Amino acid sequence: MKFFVDTADTDAIRELNELGMVDGVTTNPSLIMKSGRDIKEVTKEICNMIPGPVSAETVATDAEGMIAEGLELKKIADNIAVKVPLTWAGLKACKVLSDQGHMVNVTLCFSANQALLAAKAGATFISPFIGRLDDLNLDGMDLIADIREIYDNYGFETNILAASIRSVNHMSEAAKIGADVATAPPDVIKKMAQHPLTDKGLDAFLKDWASTGQSIL
Ligand code: G3P
Repeated sequence: MKFFVDTADTDAIRELNELGMVDGVTTNPSLIMKSGRDIKEVTKEICNMIPGPVSAETVATDAEGMIAEGLELKKIADNIAVKVPLTWAGLKACKVLSDQGHMVNVTLCFSANQALLAAKAGATFISPFIGRLDDLNLDGMDLIADIREIYDNYGFETNILAASIRSVNHMSEAAKIGADVATAPPDVIKKMAQHPLTDKGLDAFLKDWASTGQSIL
C-alpha cells in the first residue's frame, strides 16, 4: 500500500519523506486554509519535494470551472493530480481531464456506486472517506472492501485511495483489504511506530545494559 500524506504542512512532509514514507501528498481547501499559505506557492513547494502524485483540489461547482481550475493547477508541476468532487459536474470534469492525460483524484466518495461512476469516468484515484462514514456510525472500511471487490470484478485501474483516515487501525485495515493507497495525517503515520511493549522492552534492555557497565563505542 502506498502512503500519501494528507497535509499542506511542508515541514511535516519533509520529516516523513526523509524516512521514505511519502509516496504522494493530498491537499484540500481545508488543509490549504490550515497552512495559512497561498495554494500555488505551497503546492509548488510540495511538488518540488515529492516526485509522486500531489493532489490539488478545484473549488468550482460546474464542470467547465473545474476543468479551467484543474488546467491552471496542472501548470504548477507535472505531478499534480487534479482533485474534483464526486458530483455529476465532477465526473464530467474527470472524464475531460483524464482524456487529456491528466491524473484526476475524485474525492468525497461515500458509496460504492459513486466509486463505480468515477472509474467509468477514468479517474486515476477514487477517495472514499472512511472517518466521516464512521462518524455517522457506519463502517467506512466496508466501503473500501466493496470498492475493492467491484474494481477487481471488472479490472478497473482506478486506484483506491483510502481517505479521511483518523487512526492507526484505519491504516492496517485498509492495507488488509487491499487499498492501493492510504492518505493519512502525519501524526497517524508516526503513531504507527508506537507499541507499549516496544517501549517496555526497550526500558528493560537499557536497564540491564547499564548494569553491565559496558559501552559499544
Ligand atoms: O483525505 C481527506 C481528509 O482530509 C478528510 O479528513 O478527517 O476531515 O474527514 P477528515
